[in-house]
Amino acid sequence: MRVRKAVFPVAGLGIRFLPATKCVPKEMLPVVDKPLIQYAVEEAKAAGIEQFILVNRLGKGMLEDYFDHAPDLEATLRAKGSDEMLEVVLNTKAATGAVVATRQMEYLGLGHAVWCARELVGDEPFAVILPDDLLLARKPVLQQMVEVFAKVQDPLAAVMAVARDQTRKYGVLDLAKEDAGDWEDGGPIGGIVRPRGLVEKPAPADAPSRLAIIGRYILTPDIFPLLENQERGAGGEIQLTDALVTLLAHRPFFGYRFEGERFDCGDKAGYQMANLAFAMEIPNLRARIAPFIAERASHWGVGR
Ligand code: G1P
Repeated sequence: MRVRKAVFPVAGLGIRFLPATKCVPKEMLPVVDKPLIQYAVEEAKAAGIEQFILVNRLGKGMLEDYFDHAPDLEATLRAKGSDEMLEVVLNTKAATGAVVATRQMEYLGLGHAVWCARELVGDEPFAVILPDDLLLARKPVLQQMVEVFAKVQDPLAAVMAVARDQTRKYGVLDLAKEDAGDWEDGGPIGGIVRPRGLVEKPAPADAPSRLAIIGRYILTPDIFPLLENQERGAGGEIQLTDALVTLLAHRPFFGYRFEGERFDCGDKAGYQMANLAFAMEIPNLRARIAPFIAERASHWGVGR
């Protein structure tokens, strides 16, 4: 079956980005000139997704408004003849019914957030995109994953190798002995691996590998009953990773080594790096910023 729907868990408080996130949803923070949520939705669109399901919370309605009309702005830009900016604004509008939202009424973790979308997803495969994980790739990563799903028809998550001292932030794959050698350092780009287990947020000493899940999944609806019955795991939260462990006993689940670079925009350093990396993709910004970085780098003593 084709993947037509994507779930965006956006009910987080963005505590690491206070005070910016006191009034502005974390997913509205811009990288260069676009909010994180728009990158996520554009990636989904490129992958053929037709319905965008926001799992939202009270106070973050701005995320829903973002995809609506902006009558004053549109009228002003039209009157001024600012065609380019008008186009930019019109591009953020969703087709009627394409963006839908539900609310996560209790904040019990990612697994619970995904479960909140069960009625909107129904009985079909679906994607999950965590907008914090911003990906720079030649082919949008979700599109890469949809192509893999079309072949395997089993759930998968994007994976990459992380530093051993970072495993506490991720769902980590437990690899079979025969895969450990090839995959421990990240695996072949475009390859898939079938882990024998998964561990959510292990301490470095307990991590079964350095291969970590990053925020892109293609799941099948058989995850919902598992999430419904899932006991709380790491951090006292209902973890998607734990439900996937149960699923593993019934059907294959794959880690997919995507082509692309990942920026953790839930982290201050990662967010700054994302801004730089994405700005460098735009020639007129690159022309101004690259010399600035080079000059600063010598000032900081970096690269000497
Ligand atoms: C979530 C998942 C984790 C995954 C991570 C990717 O954690 O629970 O398994 O590795 O996203 O970013 P969170 O970042 O929400 O704590």
